[in-house]
Amino acid sequence: MNLSIKSIFAWSSILSVFIFFFSCSEDVNKDFKNEKLKVRTDLTHSYSNTNEAHTTHLHLDLDVSFKDKSINGIARHSITNNGADTIIFDVKNLNIQKVTVGKKEEERDVPFSIGENDDLLGAPLYVIIDENTERVNIYYNTTDQSDAIDWLPKSLTAGKEYPFMYTQGEALLTRSWIPIQDVPSNRITYSSNVKVPSDLLALMSASNPKEKSKDGNYSFEMKQPIPCYLIALAVGNISYRKLGENCGVYAEPELIEDCAYEFVDLPKMMNAAEKIYGKYQWDIYDLLVLPYSFPFGGMENPRLTFISPTLIAGDRSLVSVIAHELAHSWSGNLVTNATWEDFWLNEGFTVYFENRIMEEIYGKEAADILAYIEFQELENEMKMISEGDFPEDTHLKLNLKGRDPDMGMTSIAYVKGAFFLKTLEKHVGRELFDQFIDSYFKKYAFKTITTEIFKEYLEEQLLVPNNISFNTDEWLYNGGIPDNCLVLDPPRFKKVKDLANNISSGDLMLDNSYRLDQFLTQEWLVFIRSLSDTIQVAKLKNIDDVLGLKSCGNSEIMTEWYVLGLKNGYQDIKPDLKNFLLKVGRRKYLEPIYNQLALNKDDLAWAKGVFKEAKNNYHFVSNKTIEEILYAGSK
Ligand code: BES
Ligand code: ZN
Repeated sequence: MNLSIKSIFAWSSILSVFIFFFSCSEDVNKDFKNEKLKVRTDLTHSYSNTNEAHTTHLHLDLDVSFKDKSINGIARHSITNNGADTIIFDVKNLNIQKVTVGKKEEERDVPFSIGENDDLLGAPLYVIIDENTERVNIYYNTTDQSDAIDWLPKSLTAGKEYPFMYTQGEALLTRSWIPIQDVPSNRITYSSNVKVPSDLLALMSASNPKEKSKDGNYSFEMKQPIPCYLIALAVGNISYRKLGENCGVYAEPELIEDCAYEFVDLPKMMNAAEKIYGKYQWDIYDLLVLPYSFPFGGMENPRLTFISPTLIAGDRSLVSVIAHELAHSWSGNLVTNATWEDFWLNEGFTVYFENRIMEEIYGKEAADILAYIEFQELENEMKMISEGDFPEDTHLKLNLKGRDPDMGMTSIAYVKGAFFLKTLEKHVGRELFDQFIDSYFKKYAFKTITTEIFKEYLEEQLLVPNNISFNTDEWLYNGGIPDNCLVLDPPRFKKVKDLANNISSGDLMLDNSYRLDQFLTQEWLVFIRSLSDTIQVAKLKNIDDVLGLKSCGNSEIMTEWYVLGLKNGYQDIKPDLKNFLLKVGRRKYLEPIYNQLALNKDDLAWAKGVFKEAKNNYHFVSNKTIEEILYAGSK
């Protein structure tokens, strides 16, 4: 039986509601699988039919209830219909109450159907439309399985007096808090009215208030069209500190002073970025410091980058993450990857641009130090991926069919991507290269593009006119690191490498003349990486006695130190490590630590115990990764 969607809906009116939902979802799904798939732009990670009918503007009416840990909402989609009889949205673990079409005062209920749920993609939501349909309104509420949302009790905030909530959309999680066509290739503007408890402030990736309203009602507007993974909401006891003309930081009041110190260079970063690649297109750039559960260092939600409190190291040593998220205002938010297989276009460009911002403010040596650290990580991960189940994940252009786009969040996209651009820059000269990137950002501003579009533009605009040959295809479509890759070896690291060698293979023991502040964070990282993989516990203990790495407060250093300690059975770190794992939810740190713990039977048992206690303190994104490591073999 091959019914059209329309006839299924017609039938449904004479069948009972139960039979409608039970039988139709299967048939609609079958129909969807056979026919709709062919015309979609993003075959891999969405059910939506944006080629046929797509949202242009979304208005959200949201009521945020901390009591129920739920958002009750209406997603009002303004759509363009290219002649389809059905529009398809993505939904995941949402409760859909009803769907209407028409303007607010003239709404009319229409039938809808939800297809089978997939663990990764969620389900398609089919809504009947006709050529005159301009508005589709979806009434819904989120559930306790709406994976994007983190509901935090008071105890997990800095102030411990008010609860906190935030959302994380990238890559496929927006559909778990908003019924939406969840593809990066469709850009939309959005607005919203949000109601929250009156003692809390609500913020979105849009125009934002600076202080609490009296009644807990807030309105937001994002006028520039964005891919929907950038829609974000946070609610908590949050205050604001201005840092420059059009930038500042939001944080819980308890943290605001420390933030003002740590992120003081934000205005300089904005000036540097604009000097390199042209005007900032989003008017305002603010930071929002989230609770420790936030699974990322930063997330580039437009106008309001979300960041982890682990960036507040006290010595401004981790601010390159801010440069990174700011750089996304060009690469990623202005020019967006059309599919998650082109993820390097977002992240590789951003790491490249981040480094240019750092160079502009802190000089070439500082920038090279950062890039060198990243390159070491690339070499490690390149080896691991090459030897793993998906060696083709070492290509910049990925094949993620049937897999979570998270699998593409590796140093390949980030660092191989950045070194591709660095190498190209070296090859053609900075002046030509900058002109090219500048014109690329202008040409594709507010558009979404694929690797192939980038490649064609590169050839047309830079390589052919200047008679330059370059191994672009090898960089984009082959594994490994091409031979012509730019090599960095900042002399600065020699001292710490020698020190590490003298400890590992000689019998140097540190005395009290060594201090943590005598080297940069990045030098300590290279120091730890240069220590032998098999080093005696007595030596690790000596280093800790003198420098206190296991509890130094800098999460980058602590993570690498814990991993080395675990490799060598250095049990003294366990109490500090446990505190760290209970507190910090940033996946970049949790993943290598739990991976290392999973290699040893006793450590694995210990890790499972800690995770049981800690998992309420982590966001879904981190929990999913850690569960895979501890219970299903490593990721
Ligand atoms: N956009 C990413 C975070 C992300 C990627 C979320 C993929 C979900 C799916 C963000 O800009 C990022 O790259 N964060 C890094 C910062 C770093 C590379 C400087 C992080 O969190 O570690
Ligand atoms: Zn990024």
